[in-house]
Amino acid sequence: MTRRFPDGFLWGAATASYQIEGAVAEDGRSESVWDRFCRIPGRVLNGDTGEVACDHYHRWRDDIRIMEDLGLSAYRFSVAWPRVVPQGRGPVNQAGLDFYDRLVDGLLEAGIEPFLTLFHWDLPQCLEDQGGWRVRETAHAFADYAAAVESRLGDRVRHWLTLNEPWVVAHLGHRTGQHAPGLVGSGAELDVTHHQLLGHGLASQALRAGHAGHEVGIALNLEPRIPRSDHPLDRDAAALEDGLMNRWFLDPLFVGRYPDDLVAAAGWPASVVAARDLEIIGRPPDSIGLNYYRTEVVGHPGLRDCDRPPPLRNPPAEATEMGWPVTPEGLGAMFRMLHGYNARAIYVTENGAAYPDTAWDGDRVEDEDRRSYLERHLVEAARAIDDGVPLRGYFAWTLLDNFEWGFGYSRRFGLVHVDHANQRRTPKASAYWYRDVIARNAI
Ligand code: FCB
Repeated sequence: MTRRFPDGFLWGAATASYQIEGAVAEDGRSESVWDRFCRIPGRVLNGDTGEVACDHYHRWRDDIRIMEDLGLSAYRFSVAWPRVVPQGRGPVNQAGLDFYDRLVDGLLEAGIEPFLTLFHWDLPQCLEDQGGWRVRETAHAFADYAAAVESRLGDRVRHWLTLNEPWVVAHLGHRTGQHAPGLVGSGAELDVTHHQLLGHGLASQALRAGHAGHEVGIALNLEPRIPRSDHPLDRDAAALEDGLMNRWFLDPLFVGRYPDDLVAAAGWPASVVAARDLEIIGRPPDSIGLNYYRTEVVGHPGLRDCDRPPPLRNPPAEATEMGWPVTPEGLGAMFRMLHGYNARAIYVTENGAAYPDTAWDGDRVEDEDRRSYLERHLVEAARAIDDGVPLRGYFAWTLLDNFEWGFGYSRRFGLVHVDHANQRRTPKASAYWYRDVIARNAI
């Protein structure tokens, strides 16, 4: 069955600065938390770093050509804060902004709409040394940085995303330590969440005070949490996890308050929340970016399987190379959740999968598993649009095989294969398939 997308639906791919740019010490860029984290032995697989990454800083023209060949109508990238404000706050480095200025012009010349993310995890290390997102001052520094980027690019960039996945920075960066800054059990994850959301609110104000007509949003990783069984303990456990993952962000952004039940359950004293913070955070975003990869099944840790009624549904049969279950129906559930919050415009700002791409023979990469993953998620997107969800665009994660954080170069999410030894780019079969989807505006 053919499913058509509305006219003007945006088809894109997403990337992030630290994952593709390289050139970590050029044109005045300062150290980021990820540069530092990569140097701690054992933190990133194989000791990989983003020092060179996809060398996109030098090869951006070629990469725009690839986007043009695919027929992309939009491209989501992030700006590296340490390039623009190397000391974290204070003087603006125009040489760092020059790069994004050229990139934006290049995209517009190619007819590709830029979607700019201000923060995709590469915090200037000097700010981390002063407490990073654990302290409130970082939210203000972020708003100043946002204003600097806006004043240079705001005449051409209309679509803005403040933060990427604040949950990840808070929980993987400050609780499990799998991500920079690598703190384990700091107890600061909810403060870090709050300061990021405050940063989002302040940066949104700064962007709106700039050129007229901006669409200002935030990209969140939202994921359903499904109970393992109908047992009330499993149901409660899943509802709590679901709340911490989703409502903890959506309530303050759309309703202007943290959910009382979750604040109590988390035992968060919330003393970091100052009087007007939730007013600043709770001016609903113009758009919401949904990064969606998977759904998790949650069981109460105290229950044994023999105490449970039969499972509510069969566990997902497939997983990607990340070990993430393939659960396209969860994307539909997240659209419904966002619709329930009256989100005005929704974009899927990331969706994709890592697979080993073993069929690589130097010229062709057969990646049927990735194609099928993308297709099944796009079916959910088409259904949601039919149901009246204001979904305006879809960005595949990701354009190029790149530096996948703690997994280094060992996980390939790209539509385009990158040989990291020589930077050769080869579109995979999924890229050609995506090109056809875009050309037909249908799946
Ligand atoms: C998301 C990140 C993105 C990428 C994908 C696989 O959480 O935003 O940078 O690593 O996961």
